[in-house]
Amino acid sequence: MLDNHTVAIIGAGNIGRALLGGMIHGDLLASDQLIATRRTQSALDALEDEFPGLRTTTDNAAAANEASIVLLTIKPQSRAEVITEIRDQVNDDVLVISVLAGVTTETLQYNFGHELPVVRAMPNTPALVDEGATALAGGTFAEERHLTMAQQIFAAVGQSEVVPEYLMDAVTGLSGSGPAYVYMFIEALTDAGVKQGLPREAAARLATQTVYGAAKLVRDTGKHPAILRDEVTTPGGTAIAAVSELESHGLRTMMINAVATATERSKELNQE
Ligand SMILES: NC(=O)c1ccc[n+]([C@@H]2O[C@H](COP(=O)([O-])OP(=O)(O)OC[C@H]3O[C@@H](n4cnc5c(N)ncnc54)[C@H](OP(=O)(O)O)[C@@H]3O)[C@@H](O)[C@H]2O)c1
Repeated sequence: MLDNHTVAIIGAGNIGRALLGGMIHGDLLASDQLIATRRTQSALDALEDEFPGLRTTTDNAAAANEASIVLLTIKPQSRAEVITEIRDQVNDDVLVISVLAGVTTETLQYNFGHELPVVRAMPNTPALVDEGATALAGGTFAEERHLTMAQQIFAAVGQSEVVPEYLMDAVTGLSGSGPAYVYMFIEALTDAGVKQGLPREAAARLATQTVYGAAKLVRDTGKHPAILRDEVTTPGGTAIAAVSELESHGLRTMMINAVATATERSKELNQE
């Protein structure tokens, strides 16, 4: 579906580089269908070395001029400056996909100054290893086909879900900030193993693989996590003893409140 497209990645830093790598390695686009921009020439040279055939430039307007899809992967604070540079090159046929945290499709449409299709994306850092969880929301002029194109792009770095835009703060609280909670869980599980006498490095490897494997089992089997938990909790056994301990400390309530707090913080930040 993206065969005839040219994608400009404006601000090819961490997220932009992950997306262009995912698109090339996933055979979604050939490298010569992609143009990456940054201000730092040496970083662009490194991208060209990493992805042979990729075109790069420090000229955002020139890149946007060639593109049928513009991926905005700059920081939110660079938004006004960069959109001013490219807005005259981006006509109503161009799909703009933005990963700018907290910036609404309405604001982006306003910045571009005309009625163009905009899709807002909230990825997370596991996209750097092609295991991202991304939420997508279409703006007023985004049609089904635009969301499908955005889904194809983010499928190259993991999985995506289309949500109404008002839920983007909840997504920020769940999957956007979620890796931080999981890292804490891995760290705590590692410490728990060390407390029981395991060497730290072995404990860290076992904890990490346990989280990864359990997540993969949920995803690959499609089974409800409660069913999988029941399958490892032998009556009178070790797992149920630990589950009971976690329940007594309110693990679920703690998680629900943590995501609620992050969601509220996201709303506050967007109003500042
Ligand atoms: N990282 C996350 O977990 C995450 C999650 C969700 C959303 N996001 C969003 O993703 C976006 C990018 O985040 P990131 O972590 O990838 O940041 P990043 O690594 O700093 O990437 C941004 C890139 O933009 C380039 N840039 C800055 N000004 C520019 C300009 N005027 N023209 C062209 N390029 C310019 C910078 O390169 P030069 O300095 O060389 O120009 C930099 O490499 C942010 O808007 C963030 O809100 C990130």
